[in-house]
Amino acid sequence: MRNIIGSPAEGDDFFNRPKALAKLRRELDNLANILLVAPRRVGKTSLVLRLCEEWRTDPKRKAVFINVEGRGDELAFAEKLVEEFARAGLHPEILTRAMGVFSKIRQGIGGKGIKVPGLEVSLGEAADADHSTLGKVLESVFRKIEDGDSQVLIAIDELPELLLTLQKEDDGPKRVIALLHWLRELRQTYRKKIRWVFLGSIGLDNFVEEQRLQKLINDLQVFTLEAFSAEEADAFLRVLGDSNKLSLTADEREEIIRLVGWPLAYHLHLVFHELLDMESERSIAKAFDSLLKPEKLGYFDTWRERIDAQFSAPDAASCKAILGDLCKHPAGRERGHVLAVLMAKPTADVDKVEEQLARLLIVLQRDGYLLESGGRYTFRSFLLREYWHRRNGS
Ligand SMILES: Nc1ncnc2c1ncn2[C@@H]1O[C@H](COP(=O)(O)OP(=O)(O)O)[C@@H](O)[C@H]1O
Ligand SMILES: [Mg+2]
Repeated sequence: MRNIIGSPAEGDDFFNRPKALAKLRRELDNLANILLVAPRRVGKTSLVLRLCEEWRTDPKRKAVFINVEGRGDELAFAEKLVEEFARAGLHPEILTRAMGVFSKIRQGIGGKGIKVPGLEVSLGEAADADHSTLGKVLESVFRKIEDGDSQVLIAIDELPELLLTLQKEDDGPKRVIALLHWLRELRQTYRKKIRWVFLGSIGLDNFVEEQRLQKLINDLQVFTLEAFSAEEADAFLRVLGDSNKLSLTADEREEIIRLVGWPLAYHLHLVFHELLDMESERSIAKAFDSLLKPEKLGYFDTWRERIDAQFSAPDAASCKAILGDLCKHPAGRERGHVLAVLMAKPTADVDKVEEQLARLLIVLQRDGYLLESGGRYTFRSFLLREYWHRRNGS
């Protein structure tokens, strides 16, 4: 296992999580479609890439994995999906036809820069009556798969990110609903041969709750992925050490796990990387210090940036106020104290602030920022808490 930072772990770099994989396989075998929920960096992408790899070992099964982050519209989504179907060797004839149609749509709307008006985009003269929209062309592909003899697993990574982008476009909210609706129909119509896994670094559940769209995903089986247990983290550090010629003692491994506070593979990799780089005598405390130096804070910046991307401006401001306060209290604070932080503005209305606090605390826990225990709220990751402290200059 190499000490790789940032990209998903594949092949020998993947530390096996047999229980989580077995559970996912069981659900899929029971014909469930899955919504994989976990905070960022817990290892969702790595886990599902492995799931796909294992799925493909059965010659009757095919798996496609697509990351839709940064793909601006429904057409790009469709293109990527069909490309991956083709790569998996599914029904080349119909896929070639679909790709031809997509490029006609692109030409028809003038290429780059012009927005696709949703799944209902008309194919104009290029199409026959049965396949008159983008959505319908894609459906013909699904129908073909359903009539074929391969079991196909489709994993869609970062769908919430695509929905957030889409929502900001013209007619955004309508298009988001149409896309979710369309995906739901596909799941319900093509049930025998097609299984779905949705994952993403902001929960699809947060997103649909905000938008009150739960009914469009309530057929999905929610699967929660946790960070490593202490035993897994210990084994992870042992393997990492042994395969990088820097074997850690049991005490050192324990100290690392205690100091990170929340054993994400990503954070363990970061600490280990500091240890590898250390020129003087090895010290866990020094590795943590070094990781929190100003030039390294970038490792954690996405946690801050997410807040602005994901929340409305007033919610983002409140999240930052909550986190800015809690990073100063390693032992956590009671809800009343957190409420007082938000009430500090002279114009604050207690009922509204209570409602907002309840909502934000749920999202911040779900997304891995906070943990509630015995009525107190604390940062879940000690590393992230220290980071926040330093970023705030407090
Ligand atoms: N099972 C694992 N084995 C080794 N490294 C892992 C594992 N899971 C996650 N990681 C590491 O953690 C980081 C985040 O993993 P990723 O799968 O991208 O998480 P997510 O998709 O939840 O954000 C990556 O750098 C990856 O190398
Ligand atoms: Mg991911």
